[in-house]
Formats: sequence, C-alpha cells, structure tokens
Amino acid sequence: MIPSGIMNPPRVKLPLPIIITTICVLLFIAILYAERLSFLSSSSILKYKTCPRKHNKLKSNNRKEEEVLVNSSWIDDRFDFDPEECNVANGKWVFNHSIKPLYSDSSCPYIDRQYSCVKNGREDSDYLHWEWQPEDCTLPRFNPKLALKKLQGKRLLFVGDSLQRNQWESFVCLVQGIIPAKQKSMKRGRVYSVFKAKEYNATIEFYWAPFLVESNTDIHIIGDPKKRIIKVDEITERAKNWTGVDILVFNTYVWWMSGLRIKALWGSFANGEEGYEELDTPVAYKLGLRTWANWVDSTVNPKKTRVFFTTMSPAHTKSADWGNKDGVKCFNETKPVRKKNHWGSGSNKGMMSVVAKVVKKMKVPVTIINITQISEYRIDGHSSVYTETGGKMLTKVERANPQNADCIHWCLPGVPDTWNQIFLAML
Ligand SMILES: *[C@@H]1O[C@H](CO)[C@@H](O)[C@H](O)[C@H]1NC(C)=O
Ligand SMILES: *[C@@H]1O[C@H](CO)[C@@H](O)[C@H](O)[C@H]1NC(C)=O
Ligand SMILES: *[C@@H]1O[C@H](CO)[C@@H](O)[C@H](O)[C@H]1NC(C)=O
Ligand SMILES: *[C@@H]1O[C@H](CO)[C@@H](O)[C@H](O)[C@H]1NC(C)=O
Ligand SMILES: *[C@@H]1O[C@H](CO)[C@@H](O)[C@H](O)[C@H]1NC(C)=O
Ligand SMILES: *[C@@H]1O[C@H](CO)[C@@H](O)[C@H](O)[C@H]1NC(C)=O
Repeated sequence: MIPSGIMNPPRVKLPLPIIITTICVLLFIAILYAERLSFLSSSSILKYKTCPRKHNKLKSNNRKEEEVLVNSSWIDDRFDFDPEECNVANGKWVFNHSIKPLYSDSSCPYIDRQYSCVKNGREDSDYLHWEWQPEDCTLPRFNPKLALKKLQGKRLLFVGDSLQRNQWESFVCLVQGIIPAKQKSMKRGRVYSVFKAKEYNATIEFYWAPFLVESNTDIHIIGDPKKRIIKVDEITERAKNWTGVDILVFNTYVWWMSGLRIKALWGSFANGEEGYEELDTPVAYKLGLRTWANWVDSTVNPKKTRVFFTTMSPAHTKSADWGNKDGVKCFNETKPVRKKNHWGSGSNKGMMSVVAKVVKKMKVPVTIINITQISEYRIDGHSSVYTETGGKMLTKVERANPQNADCIHWCLPGVPDTWNQIFLAML
C-alpha cells in the first residue's frame, strides 16, 4: 500500500489521509535513521564497557534494528548472559576455523579412552571448530580463570551416568591447562573420582549413579537390560556422599531407555528383588526423579548449595532421522544437521516433560542445563568408531564397520565443552 502510494504517477489528486500517511512514513524513517546513528555511536563508545541492561532493553525493543546493525565483531564477550532472558537452545552452530579447543586428548591426561577420538584415530577435525551461537544473546566463551575463581573454596560434584562423566571430564580438561602440575591432582575410582585444584582449594568431582536412584546394576553392571531392577524409591544411602557440596549437577536418562518397560521395586522389600513390578518407562522415570527431588528438597540448603540438572544427551543411532538413508547410525558424519529445530528419535520428549514437571514442583530451585536441542544437531560429534572396547582402541578393520560406532558418547574436546560453556555462564 505504501509503495504504491509513492510510486503511482499522481494522475489523481491525492486524498488527505494518504498525504498524512506518507508524511508519517517519512518521519518514521527519519527517526529510525537517527536511532541508527545514535546506536552506532553509543555502541562504538561503549564497545568495551557494554552495559548489559541497556543491551537487553535494546534487544527487546528494537530487535530487528539490532540484527541489521550488530555484527559479531561488535559484541562484547562480557555481555551479561542471562538465562532468564535468553533461550540458549534457540540458535545455531557456526563454523569458525580460528576457534581452537582449550585442550586436546594429548594435553589433558584425564580423558577416558572412550572419548579420546584423536588418539583413537579420528582424522577429520571440523567437528572441533563449531561454536554455538544463541539467537538472542551472546554466550561468553569458556574462561578457565573465571571458572576456577567461581569454584574457589568450593566443591563441584557431577552425579549421573557416563554422559555426565563425559561432561565432568570436559570441565576438568577445560580448567586444568592453567593449573601448574604441582597444584593439581586426580584420584579416580569406580564410583567416585575427584580432581583437586589446590591453589584454588577447589574440587571437581564425579559420582557414578546412572539412575540417580539405586538399582542392582549400577556398581556391578548387569549387561542384560531385562535383568536390571531399579529401586525407584531408594536414594538416601548413596546420596549421603552428595551432601556438603556447593554445586551439584545431576543427570539421568539413557539408562532408562533400554526398553519400553522397566522393572521397578519400591516400598518394603519383603519379597526381595522378586517383588518388582514392570512399569512403563516414563512412569518409572517419574517415580525415580521424584525420589531424587524429595531428597534434594529435604537435604539441600539452597542458601549454600546450587543445584543443576543436565537434560538428556541425544543418541544418534538412526541416520534416517536426519535424512541420510544410506547411513548407519552416526558413522562417517562430519557435519552438524542444518535443519532448524531438528529433533531425532534419540531424545524422548515425554521423558523431557517428566523432568520439567518434577523440577517445577520442587522447593529448592534447580537450574536446567538444557543441552538437548543444541546437541541434536551434532551428529558429527560422537566417539563413533574412534572409541575402545575392553580398554583397547578399535583396530582399522573394526573401525571400518559402522556397526561398531558409539553414537551416544561424545569426543573430547567436543560437544560437552559447549554444555560446560552454558553451565559456566549460568553459574
Ligand atoms: C563487521 O563490522 C566490522 C567493523 O566493525 C567490519 O570490518 C566487518 O566487515 C563487518 N563484518 C560483517 C560480516 O559485516
Ligand atoms: C571466529 O573466532 C575468532 C577467534 O575467537 C574471532 O575473533 C572471530 O570474530 C570469529 N568469527 C566469527 C565469524 O564469529
Ligand atoms: C577449602 O574449601 C573447603 C570447602 O570445600 C572449606 O571447608 C575449607 O575451609 C577451605 N580451606 C581453605 C584453607 O580455604
Ligand atoms: C560414601 O560414604 C560412605 C560413608 O557415608 C563411605 O563409607 C563410602 O566409602 C562412600 N562411597 C564413596 C564411593 O565415596
Ligand atoms: C567413510 O568415510 C571415508 C572417508 O571419507 C570413506 O573412505 C568411506 O568409504 C566411508 N565409508 C562409508 C561406509 O561410507
Ligand atoms: C529443553 O529445551 C527444549 C527445546 O529445545 C524444550 O522442549 C524442553 O521443554 C526443555 N526442557 C526442560 C526440562 O526445560
């Protein structure tokens, strides 16, 4: 309507409303132009001292403008990331070859063989140079000094499964490079491991608890999922070791996903392990998470301890999910999925909603580290065939067989570094 009003040859005398509209449009453009100029000058003056509040305001009022004007070199890394304001899951992976990981699997001595992709023969390296960029805010890069400062005099404990161990090792590796050898130590056990940063009097710990609640299969793992029984209301005994910690990070998901139903046990154990009942997986998961939530609510002092929960890490075992019909699992994938909001069969939305519902009802605030969507894109980031079996890396022949690909765990350095980047920003 407006363009035609301007473009039409003025054969007909213009009625007054159109003239007024045109003047208004011109005025509006003039104002926009002035705003641009003022934004330009204020942002170049404030380039190194961006006031986050102001930035936020601009963001909500004038988002379009900002998209046009702000290119990445203007954004101050110290922009105050605010998890309340910014949906970190909404964004994209940007390839930037000049981004170098803060460590490698040779420089960080704490990486499990399972995640040491380069040592295990991975030759492609693009997967190391992707950076997650949320649409609405700037995610600060992981700053090891800042991380250690935040942990000064504190205990940080990750509790959960092997993906949580993936995240824990990533965190340790991200910070350990700036600590002199004499100032750090690592003690590893089957269930509990602890990394110490002595000059900071800080510890970064891991506790193995794949269901969080107890089961017959967490310390001595039972290979056959049909024989696994989960004590959905038992947590107290092991959780004694989680008290007195300053920052707790939990996860649990993949161990629940071995079938449609789960053998669950609760109440008094009169019948021993024979007294189990088979429950639909989301039902059992809810009971287990509630047990965990009750423990947190009754034990954790929110004034002293912060609690986080990492959402499910997606497995990429069906290449049809991302349209690679000839593929097998994540084998040979070297690029992330491009399709916005890609979501595969390895992330169960029903299970996700159980987490959201349980956490919502808790007294103690729990911060969700929502890594699912961002990791869904990263079919290229898994250990794949660059992994190990029984402590040995796969042979060349074994590596050529796509069926051997581990599409659950992640290479380190790699995707879990971004989880920790988000975690640190929220800490
Ligand atoms: C971003 O802005 C800088 C000047 O601040 C300019 O040199 C650069 O070319 C711009 N990049 C893009 C992609 O617009
Ligand atoms: C790529 O990373 C480098 C180094 O951190 C940074 O200076 C540059 O702005 C980044 N480029 C883009 C397009 O984000
Ligand atoms: C070290 O940190 C612990 C808590 O993790 C605290 O109890 C202790 O007092 C701290 N020691 C020093 C010397 O700061
Ligand atoms: C957990 O704490 C108990 C004492 O409450 C201790 O005996 C046990 O060794 C601890 N377990 C681990 C794995 O640290
Ligand atoms: C996997 O990728 C390698 C190198 O790109 C290629 O030589 C090989 O044929 C691929 N294998 C399959 C099964 O696609
Ligand atoms: C995590 O983010 C996804 C979207 O990316 C959302 O659907 C889900 O509800 C979130 N999960 C939780 C527990 O907040």
